[in-house]
Amino acid sequence: MDSLKGQHFLSLQGRNRDQLDHIFDVAKSLEPVAQQRTKLEIASGKILGTLFFESSTRTRLSFETAMHRLGGDVITVASAASSRVGSSYGETLGDTARVVDGYADVVAIRHKAVGAADEYARASRVPVIDAATGYGDGAKHPTQALIDLYTIKKEFGSIDGKTVMISGDMTKRVMQSLAYGLAYYDTKVYFAWPEDEKYRLPATAEETLGSMGLDYERVSSYDQVADEVDVIYGVGPALTWDEKSPDEFVYNLAVMETKAKPGAIVLHPLPRVDELAFDLDGTRYGRYFEEAHNGVPIRMALLALIVGLVE
Ligand code: CP
Repeated sequence: MDSLKGQHFLSLQGRNRDQLDHIFDVAKSLEPVAQQRTKLEIASGKILGTLFFESSTRTRLSFETAMHRLGGDVITVASAASSRVGSSYGETLGDTARVVDGYADVVAIRHKAVGAADEYARASRVPVIDAATGYGDGAKHPTQALIDLYTIKKEFGSIDGKTVMISGDMTKRVMQSLAYGLAYYDTKVYFAWPEDEKYRLPATAEETLGSMGLDYERVSSYDQVADEVDVIYGVGPALTWDEKSPDEFVYNLAVMETKAKPGAIVLHPLPRVDELAFDLDGTRYGRYFEEAHNGVPIRMALLALIVGLVE
């Protein structure tokens, strides 16, 4: 299996199932630390730089929590405006990388531009993790996809054999990354997006998923395949609370109680808009807050493997 030590983590493309399974195994071994709210000392002396040039609640805070629980320290840029990248200087990502690699041992970066983490990584002497970059074609959120996969594994005991509905706005970074991750397992994926082509799965993602051998199909809505679906991952299409998602892209308790396959769950990377009803919170269907909490052991595992704290 390819070691992650000293490596950038920029995508779920070009990986293999053994590598993902190993991350999940390490995450599982670290879960007690997160659950008991304690800390290790294995990362003592190591520093994580969280460079978030776009807003975040879960990703930045769970990366930082993960590093603290490993015993390391964190330095952070919490918004573009708080850095020179977002100032009138418009400092380049390359120059930023050449500076920050003198401070931090590993960096997690979020940026609005497609390819921003890759550009940053090309100039960085320390490993870089893509913590969500871009919109549309080429958008990525690989560590969110790890969390999604890990949550499926925890909920069902296995990712193999599961049918996943990915519905809503396919241009969102989480949608493409999750699909790439599912391609390493024996899964079936149904995609559904509204008629408006602006929500469609980008053609390059479709080509990549085909070459990765993902068993997928486009359907008009969840209703068409509800009796087969184990995991619903519905994000958008509404982008704000001022917009309204079409009814067939909204998941609520009534939909789940009348249509869902027994045992089906609803995941969501959060934050939600109207596609995920509040009446699913705390039910046997809604597993998205557990999913958000799984971000800590997954990011602990990733940091520990990349920094070389565990094999
Ligand atoms: N899931 C996710 O990326 O959430 P944040 O935008 O809050 O980091």
